[in-house]
Amino acid sequence: MTSLPVFLFIGIFVSQTGARYTANWTSLDARPLPSWYDEAKLGIFIHWGVFSVPGFDSEWFWWHWQGQQPPDPKCVSFMSKNYPPGFSYPEFAPEFHAQFFNPEEWADIFKASGARYVVLTAKHHEGFTNWGSPHSWNWNSVDTGPHRDLVGDLGQAVRNRSLHYGLYNSLYEWFNPLYLNDKKNGFKTQEFVLHKLLPELYNMVVRYRPEVIWSDGDWEAPDTYWNSTEFLAWLYNDSPVKDTVVTNDRWGAGCACKHGGYYNCDDKYTPGQLPKHKWEKCTSVDTFSWGYRRNMRLNELMDLPTIIADLVRTIAMGGNYLLNVGPTPDGMIPAVFEERLRGVGAWMQINGEAIYASKPWRVQFENTTIPVWYTSKGSSVYAIVTTKPSKSTVQLLEPKTSVTTQVTLLGNAKPLSWSPLGPGGGLTILLPELPFVPGSVGCVVLKVNPLRTEAWVRAGDTAARN
Ligand SMILES: *[C@@H]1O[C@H](CO)[C@@H](O)[C@H](O)[C@H]1NC(C)=O
Ligand SMILES: *[C@@H]1O[C@H](CO)[C@@H](O)[C@H](O)[C@H]1NC(C)=O
Ligand SMILES: *[C@@H]1O[C@H](CO)[C@@H](O)[C@H](O)[C@H]1NC(C)=O
Ligand SMILES: *[C@@H]1O[C@H](CO)[C@@H](O)[C@H](O)[C@H]1NC(C)=O
Repeated sequence: MTSLPVFLFIGIFVSQTGARYTANWTSLDARPLPSWYDEAKLGIFIHWGVFSVPGFDSEWFWWHWQGQQPPDPKCVSFMSKNYPPGFSYPEFAPEFHAQFFNPEEWADIFKASGARYVVLTAKHHEGFTNWGSPHSWNWNSVDTGPHRDLVGDLGQAVRNRSLHYGLYNSLYEWFNPLYLNDKKNGFKTQEFVLHKLLPELYNMVVRYRPEVIWSDGDWEAPDTYWNSTEFLAWLYNDSPVKDTVVTNDRWGAGCACKHGGYYNCDDKYTPGQLPKHKWEKCTSVDTFSWGYRRNMRLNELMDLPTIIADLVRTIAMGGNYLLNVGPTPDGMIPAVFEERLRGVGAWMQINGEAIYASKPWRVQFENTTIPVWYTSKGSSVYAIVTTKPSKSTVQLLEPKTSVTTQVTLLGNAKPLSWSPLGPGGGLTILLPELPFVPGSVGCVVLKVNPLRTEAWVRAGDTAARN
């Protein structure tokens, strides 16, 4: 007889405090992604650690030198030529000085890039933490190397510029003896997870309140080994960032592209058609590495037009774009990376309206006369032409115009002349004389507004929601 009132009371209680998540994928995958993330569109990724000191090969240097069998001869010979016999990888740590590290300068560059979030490697696969983790004794940036809380100092500067702050965390650690022992036991034991990984991860979240947890290094073991669902249930229910945090999909073998928050799928993932779920493309200005390489060459880097085209394609396909730079062990962002980031920002300053908070359109791409990517916002559609048009007119086949349609070139107040192509849709637009801007990318962003009312289910609605 009393069960009904009790049941009602519980119902009211739950609706007032919001849904609670259970430690299983059905429950966790149903969490709506906090809206700031899809609106932000552009983030900066930073790979920084002890691997920046050798600055050779990539952030995987240690593994390529001493982990994989057989080792990479390039790495073996680099060590034998340049370091004394018996030199061990941890001896690089004291050379991680970060003496020029000025978080305010970094944050100024990130802000100027037009990015709305920043993700720093708090701990990469080498296990070194860029903060004073009590669970990483003598293998962290406070006990050795910079003697500084890099994660905390950058976080403060980044947040001061109203950018969201996220942390990359590798689940596995190549050479951690506890991990290697669990691995030897076929991941039937969880010594590493229970005594190193999880205490450190919980501590990191409570200390730094990251709004992105960019998980990685998950693929050798199932999510049940990592206790991923238990951690995420805590993160979404009870952590200090429960309402705003987003996570990716690297939470155990088989999770990528399937479970978690937004999907990364693979590094540099480039889908051929509009994904149904919110996703992010992570990619690096240095096409050979995420970490700093002392021997990088200009022709190995993405140039600005390539970055802009990649960004545009990603946004049109419903993704976020996370662009990586590798700082030096001295704490400098190489000037060539800074130039790229400021170039992206200059482009976003004019064309950001077509990017931030946009939604994928009914059509993502057309290429009948010239390649065009589409994004949309409200009743407007943005047509982004990433190559310089060879003629003074551009034809768009997909937008359906009406008599009230206006066409403008972003950054140019005056409406452009246009004429319909035919009753079914499409238009021809007369371009103005495009101003010469030194170093600018030949890129035209047209706003067509308003469109004729169309009865189609916006293909991107699902992607935007999840
Ligand atoms: C997951 O948790 C929900 C409760 O939130 C429960 O209803 C469901 O049965 C669970 N699913 C599995 C597969 O355990
Ligand atoms: C950034 O720091 C300045 C100077 O300390 C302060 O006045 C300002 O309110 C801060 N802005 C934000 C968004 O935290
Ligand atoms: C890890 O998961 C197991 C169940 O799989 C649970 O009993 C244990 O409490 C979890 N530990 C932590 C620290 O989450
Ligand atoms: C557009 O079409 C041209 C001609 O068919 C082709 O060469 C080009 O690669 C296409 N562009 C893109 C981005 O697909």
